Amino acid sequence: SGNLCRCGAYPNIVNAIVEVKNGNQKSVNDVTDSEMSLDRVDGRVKVDGTAKYSAEYAFENLAHAVLVTSTIAKGTILSIDAKDAEATPGVLTVISHLNSPGAPGYGEAKQPAERASMGTAFRVFFDNLIYFNGQPVAMVVAETWEQANYAASLVKIEYKIERHQTNFEENIQHAAIAQGVQKNKNSPFQDYTRGNPAAFDDAKVKIEATYTIPTQHHQPMEPHAIVAVWEGADRLTVYDKNQGVKSAQGNLAQAFKLPRENVKVNAQFIGGAFGSGIRVWPHTVAAVLAAKKLNRPVKLILGRDLMFTSVGYRPYTIQKVAIGADENGLLSAISHEGIGQTSAYEEHLERTILASRAMYACPNMSTKYKLLSLDVNTPTWMRGPGDATGMFALESALDELAYAMKIDPLEMRLRNYAESDPERNLPWSAKGLRECYELGAEKFGWKNRTFETRSMQKDNMLIGYGMASSLYGFHRHPSKARAIMLANGSVIVQSATMDIGPGTGTAMTRIAAKVLGVSPKKIRFDLGDSSLPDAPGQNGSSTIPSVGSAVHVACEALKKKLSDLAARMPGGSGSKNITYPDILKYHNLPQVEVTEESKSGPERDQYSMYSFGCHFVEVHVNSVTGEVRVKRVVTCADVGKIINFKTARSQSIGGVVGGIGMALMEASVMDHRYGRYITRDFANYHIPVHKDIPQIDVVYVDKPDMLVNPIGSKGLGEIAIVGVAAAVANAVFHATGKRVRELPITVEKLI
Ligand code: MOS
Repeated sequence: SGNLCRCGAYPNIVNAIVEVKNGNQKSVNDVTDSEMSLDRVDGRVKVDGTAKYSAEYAFENLAHAVLVTSTIAKGTILSIDAKDAEATPGVLTVISHLNSPGAPGYGEAKQPAERASMGTAFRVFFDNLIYFNGQPVAMVVAETWEQANYAASLVKIEYKIERHQTNFEENIQHAAIAQGVQKNKNSPFQDYTRGNPAAFDDAKVKIEATYTIPTQHHQPMEPHAIVAVWEGADRLTVYDKNQGVKSAQGNLAQAFKLPRENVKVNAQFIGGAFGSGIRVWPHTVAAVLAAKKLNRPVKLILGRDLMFTSVGYRPYTIQKVAIGADENGLLSAISHEGIGQTSAYEEHLERTILASRAMYACPNMSTKYKLLSLDVNTPTWMRGPGDATGMFALESALDELAYAMKIDPLEMRLRNYAESDPERNLPWSAKGLRECYELGAEKFGWKNRTFETRSMQKDNMLIGYGMASSLYGFHRHPSKARAIMLANGSVIVQSATMDIGPGTGTAMTRIAAKVLGVSPKKIRFDLGDSSLPDAPGQNGSSTIPSVGSAVHVACEALKKKLSDLAARMPGGSGSKNITYPDILKYHNLPQVEVTEESKSGPERDQYSMYSFGCHFVEVHVNSVTGEVRVKRVVTCADVGKIINFKTARSQSIGGVVGGIGMALMEASVMDHRYGRYITRDFANYHIPVHKDIPQIDVVYVDKPDMLVNPIGSKGLGEIAIVGVAAAVANAVFHATGKRVRELPITVEKLI
């Protein structure tokens, strides 16, 4: 049906003429991909201030909430003295477990309170128990934010302190297989073996090492914020920063025992997100509770400091990797064990050890994954969750093996290239990793590298070239899209998907323009509203594969419907040129619309689907001070078809920037005497700034993988960061001869 307009049975529907480079004009169907690389469709409103973010929704009668958070890590609240706070001008109420209107979905608190069993999501203002330092224990609501913020400082709370455990290294002996995994025989996190892992003992060359990544926190430009508005007792609207309006709708409906359709979630503009918006967090429910209690709209904003205790983080993780190889550098055995941090009330599992099973051809393999439960808030997904962590270890270890065997690190990877999925024994749907290695090495100039460490020096700079592979699983969820042709030939496409930064609307506009042959300027894409057709949240690099497919099939169906209408016009079955407005005008229709769903077919189980990539990094390390500067990065990916080059490139660059942060700067440091983070602002939690970021070149293989979906496109968001930290660490090793196995690579680890 993609060629409908050319098949002869239907009329030629005239395609839009669009302007391409240098003022040239072409039919929209004839432009090449790079000629039709769109600027962000919402770029202008994002920079001129028109775009409205959650915290900017204004209502008459809007009240402002400020959280009071626990200063201990474990114990019980003995008393809350809110008298002074309540007496402060403008204060409307002080809410805590003592007077919360309660979320019916939470159930009843026990008297005396009982610690939640493992797997119970944290319930805000539910009882007097403290699970982590920074836990919301009370909330002041006032006429202004300033009044609420001041009054919050006057709330006095007495605690009974219990001994807490927050130190990962000191408690590591308590790590255990997650209860949820023990109960689920099919969990991928069960101990895994293939072949004979004991083959390691006979390996010619062996590498065994332990790798550590610290806790890292999400730092989007826009912190989380919510405005909650009730209409009566059973209708709720929230303007909330999140990554999935539909899942937020479901979660809030559950918490407040409302029919789903009574909850509206709006998140049209998001100022960046890396996974912290996938869940509904306690602060969101807190704002909804306040709005309910006061029967007024309530706004709650997390300050940067509260971003460290309110919305999850990439968990502290220790990994042990053992690799054995034969005399030719062929892998004979890999063992990968990971222990990740979690809270005392929920088990956060991530893919830490999973990438190792699929990445290289290796007959003998074992993986083990455990959690260590501490008195902290629950971690969450953060860009490339698990894979970014796991591939730091695997790709560092592979570099160590390459050096032990005096084999070029890239050559090492090529020798162990997996031609099919060694874990599932399935063919890949497509795998352009070899092309990534070749294109990347060429662009980077890998051949100019001399093998020995400290062999490339200039003045007092130690120069290092490092590389690492990356992979990321393919995620596609059932998604719907509605496509509407208006009488004037404009198109509206709608789906309850999200844009947390990558430019979803732009890519979807691009897909619709290509299918319909309509100029992108005449297309509007609506997202971020729970009343739109059902779509998954923006996570797991699933938006283009899932929603992009839905937009594609919806536009195909719309085109078919319009072609059918055109065929019923006089002379319509010939090859006469007819425009979309002609069709609607002839049939006297104000609009023509279709809603379509798209989901995975049987190929999902017949092929192994992954995005693949690699990164090449040049670092300069000051031989006196140990300061590391990333000078150049070439990042390569095979994610099938690239939908919109310009926004895709930005996304790849963003992933590399995150990876550089992970490698060199980011670490959340806790004072274990109190179980409290001391890095709670950008003075202490370091992220890269412009000056830290070098030239980043992005290379795509750009070959459609038509087994994954009708648009041939796989996920790009996460693979962009996976492996970057290892590539930097490997470059630092090449420059200095020092192998840093504990991130971040700060100067004291190098001098
Ligand atoms: Mo991503 S961690 O799925 O936002």
